[in-house]
Amino acid sequence: MSDRVDIDALLGRMTLQEKIGQLSVLADSIRPFAFDVNPDSFQWGPQRTRELIQAGEVGALFNGVGAAEGRELQRIAVEESRLGIPLLLGADVIHGMRTVFPIPLGEAASFEPELARRTARAAAVEATREGLHWTFAPVVDVARDQRWGRVAETTGEDTYLASQFAAARVRGFQGEDLTANDSLLATLKHFAAYGAVSAGLDYNTVDLSPQTLHDVHLPPFKAAIDAGALTVMSSFNDINGVPATANRDLLTGILREQWGFEGFVVSDYTSDFELIAHGYAADEKHAAQLSLNAGLDMSMQSGVFMDHLATLVAEGAVSLQTLDAAVRRILDVKARMGMFDNPYRSLVVPPEGPAPYLAEHDALARDAARRSVVMLKNASDVLPLRKSGQRIALIGPFARDRENLAGCWNIFGDSTREIDLETGLRAALDDPDSLTVVEGCEIEDAIEGGIEAAVAAARDAEAVLLAVGEPTRFTGEAQSRTQIVLPAAQQALVEAVIATGTPVIVLLRNGRALALSLALQAADAILVTWFLGSQTGHALADLVFGDHSPSGRLPISFPHESGQQPYYYNHPSSGRPYQPGGFEAFRTRWRETANTALYPFGHGLTYTRFEYGEVELSAPQLEWDETLAVRARIANVGTRGGEEVVQLYVHDRVASRVRPLRELKGFEKIALAPGESRIVEFRLSRHDLQFRGVDNRPIAEPGLFDLWLAPSATTGDPVSFELRPAASGAG
Ligand code: BGC
Repeated sequence: MSDRVDIDALLGRMTLQEKIGQLSVLADSIRPFAFDVNPDSFQWGPQRTRELIQAGEVGALFNGVGAAEGRELQRIAVEESRLGIPLLLGADVIHGMRTVFPIPLGEAASFEPELARRTARAAAVEATREGLHWTFAPVVDVARDQRWGRVAETTGEDTYLASQFAAARVRGFQGEDLTANDSLLATLKHFAAYGAVSAGLDYNTVDLSPQTLHDVHLPPFKAAIDAGALTVMSSFNDINGVPATANRDLLTGILREQWGFEGFVVSDYTSDFELIAHGYAADEKHAAQLSLNAGLDMSMQSGVFMDHLATLVAEGAVSLQTLDAAVRRILDVKARMGMFDNPYRSLVVPPEGPAPYLAEHDALARDAARRSVVMLKNASDVLPLRKSGQRIALIGPFARDRENLAGCWNIFGDSTREIDLETGLRAALDDPDSLTVVEGCEIEDAIEGGIEAAVAAARDAEAVLLAVGEPTRFTGEAQSRTQIVLPAAQQALVEAVIATGTPVIVLLRNGRALALSLALQAADAILVTWFLGSQTGHALADLVFGDHSPSGRLPISFPHESGQQPYYYNHPSSGRPYQPGGFEAFRTRWRETANTALYPFGHGLTYTRFEYGEVELSAPQLEWDETLAVRARIANVGTRGGEEVVQLYVHDRVASRVRPLRELKGFEKIALAPGESRIVEFRLSRHDLQFRGVDNRPIAEPGLFDLWLAPSATTGDPVSFELRPAASGAG
């Protein structure tokens, strides 16, 4: 139930200054603030911010926290400003509030959108207890270039996977009822194609065909809007020369006219002001004019709306109608959240004082963390290890580390409660002293005698857990890399430890796919452990000692070499496709490496083995208006229970535009006991086979398709079916 406020009547009573005020969100410099995440956060200062609230000239604040202080700010807005319009209090709650869940890329590896819904719900429950109404999440960008640091915030390289997670996270953040005290308004970001920045360089230009924009980058936004998202953040980048923040085709054409989006668009942090540096606006006034007229409703932090809209309206460069439409959208979202009837929603100060976290979320954080881990290899079933009777050495700069557990874009996490690797492993061992811990090197630097100590510990052990990878600061915003490899000091450690001959299990910490060196590839087992959040140590102990079987799958391809970027599984076929093992000259390959992934999208092992039965189709042909059932029996033929992610891929054999080698169209994660089997069924319709044609209209083309039910993007044998034309004969 939204408020009964009459928005038109309210709008009629607002002065121009009050209207303009609603169109800005400013850094919350009054409440305890996460000041190190954005540049120049204190531009407005507490005194000025308070005056603006009193005057009714600011609509929203962001990245401050605290229910008691937030309540006081709201009191000023509601009781001291002339019209009493409540403030919207936002923040970046990306993968948890106080309880930290895996980075979104890690959670995507679970291939469980329902898990993402639950962690988003938990984050919303914690955030709304601490005076927040609105999160700048989920990130729904599709990221195909692993050099880009913000891959860590995304669900990786696949559009279908990203769409499923985007919708699930919106449902999780917002819950069933937007007016509920624990409902957190979601923001889809970054609109649009931010994940396609050229060369993986953050903020860089995006040069993209309209077809790829629509086929690859927009569907997750659409899916999340259909799931109820009411705010969208415009991205920093330009697309084909037009910055997203002033891009009328995007903000008005696609979002509102084509999709019927009813919410509002907020800029990214000063992205309207940045139109000047882009060379798209001459000055601040011009930047305000271009962005509002394009369809931007709310300006974040730059102040260009506050400073220039009144003049622009007076001069007729911005119409009152356009301005009113933006104000109306923002007031409407506030009303849908029940803020006029209940301005103190999410600002309830608990009588027992602020509780920084909810202990009941620990179990969810642990489960989410272990479900996010991907086992790339497990030669001779070296994993799981035993909890007793085995001398284990834990080696590497992440062995005891407490600085790199939460991962990037977590600004309110309670780091005192995070479980590091050593603590988690010791807690699980029957004899905690059977674990020897040696750092070996620092994250980027050698330690004197470090390698010698590590080698001695490895020689003395029956198994080595080698905790190496990237630190948090290599990932996230403005952290693009040219070489997606381990720092040299860690590479030297890996080589020395592998050379001892003791079985080595790599616990890789990473916020992107990494190019694994040959030494690292030679390890007996490799677990991709991302940044797993509060329960890192316990979750990894659960996996290493076999209390839980790994079940994650790669949401990004792991390349052989950095220079393969951007590498993604669903790339269009070239005219001279690479043929592994075949005649390789004059083929699509690099001099140094094959045009393949070292570990493909969708890959991940478990502690058991699965067998896929023959793929059966309900018919050899898919009629235009019907669906095709695709099924196969999946059997657990190993000796342990486990979970398999059954993936459905298709390929259009001949089309009017070159189609990807394969595209994911469905997946299902199933748990099977040893010896158990189950039939997994998917349904395909022609809508699943649609793409943008040469005229950029969506089409499905009759003809032959290949289809796979497989455990990764490069395995399985295809079966074919034919899409039949519509009865009228039209395609
Ligand atoms: C980031 C956004 C974030 C905003 C507010 C920007 O730098 O790109 O993702 O929501 O800051 O903190």
